[in-house]
Amino acid sequence: MSAPRGSGSPRTALAGRVALLTGASGGIGRAVALALAEAGVDLALTFSRSPDPAHGVGEEVRRLGRRVAVLQGDLADAATPGHLVAETERLLGPVDILVANAGAGEQRVWQEVDVALWDATLAVNLRAPFLLAQAVAPGMVERGFGRILALSSVAAYTGGVVGPHYAASKAGLNGLVHYFAGRLAGDGVTVNGIAPALIEQTGMLPQAPEGGMPLPIPVGRLGLPHEVADLAVAVLSNGYLTNQVVLLDGGLHPR
Ligand SMILES: NC(=O)c1ccc[n+]([C@@H]2O[C@H](COP(=O)([O-])OP(=O)(O)OC[C@H]3O[C@@H](n4cnc5c(N)ncnc54)[C@H](OP(=O)(O)O)[C@@H]3O)[C@@H](O)[C@H]2O)c1
Repeated sequence: MSAPRGSGSPRTALAGRVALLTGASGGIGRAVALALAEAGVDLALTFSRSPDPAHGVGEEVRRLGRRVAVLQGDLADAATPGHLVAETERLLGPVDILVANAGAGEQRVWQEVDVALWDATLAVNLRAPFLLAQAVAPGMVERGFGRILALSSVAAYTGGVVGPHYAASKAGLNGLVHYFAGRLAGDGVTVNGIAPALIEQTGMLPQAPEGGMPLPIPVGRLGLPHEVADLAVAVLSNGYLTNQVVLLDGGLHPR
């Protein structure tokens, strides 16, 4: 039996690949950017409203010897995903790895979620990853190699603490992972998600709240961005792992 396209060796060498990473101005995005740069990946890093952190990460990536492009784009705008992919390809070459990490999560109880917040959250957290995947997948299939990774959340399973708009957007994202994974697996393209619980040192959760943990996390502490990044590199390096959303939640939610 001949090997399927893109199956390669058991461990995928990421060095020399080009990645498009959204939300690089945030806590998890920065950690993933540095971990990928250390693995030898060239990076297009995107931000929306925080140019300084994004350019700071860009400088760190450059110091690690990788090529880097820092791109601005509001992912609530449906035209942005296609623009970001085109700019990445123009500046760095075809996208081998997509990390759809950017996410919006304004905390609101269900009574206070209006249509504008619902639509904005779904646009960034669900529609944009779909449009990004739709834009990069044809080239990945043509080349017989690709990696798509989406940042989901434990809220997709538990409902979480941010609000119904956020939980629903992340549950939808998991469906997107499963849809694309099944269709692209035979072409050397893996599609997975990581679903963290509470990760500190991020814009969403700068530090552990005073007065105790908002959720009963068995490990007894919040997660750290580098723990998400370590898992991201492991997932992206594994050509046999696809169609999975990996929970990274300190034991909060068994599945
Ligand atoms: N921290 C947690 O506890 C936690 C838990 C579960 C899942 N997650 C997920 O992890 C991912 C990264 O979040 P984080 O924790 O690193 O939070 P963060 O520090 O707040 O980062 C969020 C990132 O998303 C970008 N973003 C937000 N709205 C955007 C928009 N309209 N257009 C383009 N980019 C936009 C931000 O860019 P600008 O700042 O430039 O606008 C920023 O780079 C998100 O998908 C989040 O849902 C986080």
